[in-house]
Amino acid sequence: MQALSIRPSLPWLGAFKRKAMLTTFSVLLPVLSGSAMAADLTIGFSQIGSESGWRTSETASIKAEAESRGYNLKFSDAQQKQENQIKAVRSYIAQGVDGILLAPVVETGWDQVLKEAKRAQIPVVLIDRGVAADPSLYLTKIASDFKEEGALAASWLAAKTNGRCNIVELQGSVGSSAAIDRKAGFDSLISNFPNMTIIRSQSGSFTRAGGKEVMESFLKGEGGAKNICALFAHNDDMALGAILAMKEAGIKPVKDILVVSIDGVPDIFKAMADGEANATIELNPHLGGPAFDAILASQKGAKVDKWVKANGPLYLPDTAAAEYAKRK
Ligand code: AHR
Repeated sequence: MQALSIRPSLPWLGAFKRKAMLTTFSVLLPVLSGSAMAADLTIGFSQIGSESGWRTSETASIKAEAESRGYNLKFSDAQQKQENQIKAVRSYIAQGVDGILLAPVVETGWDQVLKEAKRAQIPVVLIDRGVAADPSLYLTKIASDFKEEGALAASWLAAKTNGRCNIVELQGSVGSSAAIDRKAGFDSLISNFPNMTIIRSQSGSFTRAGGKEVMESFLKGEGGAKNICALFAHNDDMALGAILAMKEAGIKPVKDILVVSIDGVPDIFKAMADGEANATIELNPHLGGPAFDAILASQKGAKVDKWVKANGPLYLPDTAAAEYAKRK
């Protein structure tokens, strides 16, 4: 066995994205033989829904990756409901698929269905979010370290404001590992700065509409916009909705209220290039290649790392126009 960087076969990706993937994903896998790479797999994919631009890209990327490999991908959109995901996983188990990709909407409540998959000897790969279950119940998690993302956003903000800032926070979907851990990482970092305070925090459900609505209420809160130094949004879509709310209220994003968020969707690069957002942390949506490779490796009896980290860099306005041109 030897260490191998997972090389996703996404021919339609630009050179930039392929390079980013190669530097982002690394997992201990055996070198797969030609016949294993050509395996004809049937995979079930239980997706959360389509709440954000990032998730829509992830779905498209995983479908394209499966198609380029000739796999039979069974796809199910859970419409944000855990019960729908559990039903989908049970149906994939009943169909005897070769592997299951699960993007868990919330962190808790998965033990039973994961035990059922394990009993059926079907490997489950957690995609982009984590669960609070015993790691022996799934093959691997292919996801970013959300705490690091939150801490990176906070450290950028601390540097930008010299550690003095009243922050409003738009949290992601309640109970999701992405929201829980991004908040934890951010809170932990700002606890080093006595004059950085989160003055309001509420979920905008990772949607643009949710971000706009909650930001409108933040702006009407005590002290109004004058009391707010920065917005930390757990994803770009909520930040984009909040930017709209600011503009409609006659407030200038960036100049009046700093904006930092996570995902790196094309629209946030456009907003940064237009002077309406300050920073984003990229979350790579191309997770299908490493997920499929992990299933292939497990079929060969190889050890697969429990967590394949997919953290991305922080981007600032100076490169935003060029980044937008690469992604739109
Ligand atoms: O789990 C990843 C998060 O889920 C993304 O940051 C957000 O946009 C998505 O909906």
